[in-house]
Amino acid sequence: MAKKFKGNEGISLIAGIILMLVVAAATFAVTALLINIFEKQQEAKNPFFRVVEINDDTEDPEIWGKNFPIQYDLYKRTVDMVRTKYGGSEALPHTPTEKDPRFVVSQSKIELDPRLKRMWLGYAFAIDFREERGHAYMLDDQTFTGRQQKPQFGVCAHCHASVYVPYKKLGDGDIIKGFEKMNPMPYAEARKLLQHPVTCIDCHDPNTMQLRITRPAFLEGIKTYKESQGIKDYNPNTMATRQEMRTYVCAQCHVEYYFKGDEKRLIYPWHKGLEADNILAYYDETNHKDWAHAETNAPMLKAQHPEFELWSQGIHARSGVACADCHMPYTRVGALKVSDHHVRSPLLNINRACQTCHHFSEEELKARVERIQDKTAEMKDMAMDSLVALIDDIKRIMDAGISNEKIEEARLCQRRATFLIDFVEAENSTGFHADQESARILFKAMDHLRKGQVALKDAITLHQAYGNTTTN
Ligand code: HEC
Ligand code: HEC
Ligand code: HEC
Ligand code: HEC
Ligand code: HEC
Repeated sequence: MAKKFKGNEGISLIAGIILMLVVAAATFAVTALLINIFEKQQEAKNPFFRVVEINDDTEDPEIWGKNFPIQYDLYKRTVDMVRTKYGGSEALPHTPTEKDPRFVVSQSKIELDPRLKRMWLGYAFAIDFREERGHAYMLDDQTFTGRQQKPQFGVCAHCHASVYVPYKKLGDGDIIKGFEKMNPMPYAEARKLLQHPVTCIDCHDPNTMQLRITRPAFLEGIKTYKESQGIKDYNPNTMATRQEMRTYVCAQCHVEYYFKGDEKRLIYPWHKGLEADNILAYYDETNHKDWAHAETNAPMLKAQHPEFELWSQGIHARSGVACADCHMPYTRVGALKVSDHHVRSPLLNINRACQTCHHFSEEELKARVERIQDKTAEMKDMAMDSLVALIDDIKRIMDAGISNEKIEEARLCQRRATFLIDFVEAENSTGFHADQESARILFKAMDHLRKGQVALKDAITLHQAYGNTTTN
């Protein structure tokens, strides 16, 4: 009995210990689960303490920063200047003058490559064109660029300042009306209404903190583009997915544009599509020119920063990878997962920008990017040489007093080739955003240059047979 009793006692002791262990383990598991759920909820909601009230008129990022100190700190770091092989920017000291009080500027691209000056001769870009740098500088760099030597207008502010509140004030609450009023103002007059570079209120709804589009030209441009694809009345603020918004907020500014008519309306030329050829066809059809080339009198076009357009032709867009995935990757701060508001070259942050998806070493990923960039740069280099040769040859024929419609044809080739080369030159990833498409665009530019040379040969033949057939 005693033995049996003892045995029972032993069993119940072991059972008790097991039960205790099970309960402890279960408690631990539940606690861990709860902590995990809590963290996930934190991440999902990113709860914040409304230290201060912000509303749809709060422009100053410092005030938003009281509620979102981490994002604000990261945002302020866009003052950093670090060079990569083809991107980033180098800090060059500048002696402040009354006209240009900046202490630090970035590298001049037209000094690095004088062919660019030739390409743009007669246009403001041949005066001053620099490597772009962080968002913190956008308003100063625009205010003090050498391009201000030519008359500039309020429309420039659309992509270089926080214009949401100024547009609202100018348009009595209507941002489109405000936009229309600011566009044709002399730049200096509009500048008085601007306080900050792009800031929180330009990308976020102050109540929900959700992303939103505030730029009239993008709202109109994307609507026109979607219409060309058979989608009516597109409005990104109500119809775009969250992942699309993570690209669209950037596409408010990182796009090709032109100013239309005396009202200087800012237009994103996506009426026929987003590809370089579609945009060129639109400009040809509307007879738009940005300037006349100083040496050849060709009707010229300037392409500018078509990051959104080129990205849209690449493998990452095709795979649903947004601008923010690479340029504002998540970064962990304590229990919080926040978006890195230090917008910059992803090559300075490969770990977060790329390795979340690609399991190769940082060196390997950097090498892959630079391989694409080296090859793109080599192709661009050859195209630039051929372009300069065409300009030389048109000029030579004009200097010889030859004048006929074949020269006009060569001028059109100069216009088209310049635009296509510039589409890759002005795009700031040096081919990475869409490598094969960049190569195709440069190849097409070479084709226009070849046709231009053929036209000049014909011009000489025509002249020898009939003399001048047009007046210059
Ligand atoms: C898959 C990752 C990825 C995506 C998506 C992406 N980019 Fe990039 N971007 C890069 C890389 C890599 C570079 C090259 C950086 C360098 O050369 O230092 C770059 C360069 C740039 C640059 C020039 C940066 C510099 O420092 O000179 C800008 C501006 C830019 N991208 C904007 C955009 C915009 C706008 C979008 C969305 C329409 C976008 N990018 C989508 C990876 C990406
Ligand atoms: C559609 C948006 C948009 C408009 C409109 C716009 N910019 Fe920009 N600007 C950008 C973007 C994006 C960059 C950075 C990428 C780059 O430099 O290629 C930039 C860069 C610059 C820079 C720095 C690099 C350089 O070119 O030296 C200057 C200066 C500048 N812009 C001046 C102007 C002026 C002057 C106007 C009006 C004629 C203007 N911008 C209109 C979007 C715009
Ligand atoms: C309001 C217009 C505007 C918006 C919105 C905008 N950018 Fe920019 N971005 C600019 C301008 C202008 C510059 C050049 C500033 C200068 O050179 O002074 C620039 C510069 C950059 C650079 C170069 C930074 C460096 O250190 O060289 C990158 C990268 C970039 N932007 C990416 C983005 C991404 C990604 C988004 C969206 C999350 C975005 N931008 C949204 C106007 C804008
Ligand atoms: C050029 C556009 C842009 C600007 C300017 C900007 N943000 Fe963001 N912000 C984003 C993007 C993109 C996300 C990611 C949103 C998403 O994935 O839905 C984001 C996310 C956030 C979030 C959600 C949590 C997180 O980090 O993902 C907060 C909070 C936030 N931003 C605060 C700010 C504050 C404060 C400022 C001004 C100091 C600011 N943002 C300026 C584009 C911007
Ligand atoms: C959100 C995920 C994601 C991020 C972030 C991302 N990529 Fe990718 N990347 C992809 C996908 C998906 C593909 C398509 C190929 C595939 O399916 O594996 C791809 C393709 C590529 C390719 C092949 C390009 C080609 O033309 O075939 C390169 C190179 C590359 N990525 C580099 C990078 C670099 C560098 C970064 C960081 C700046 C980066 N990626 C960030 C998802 C990502």
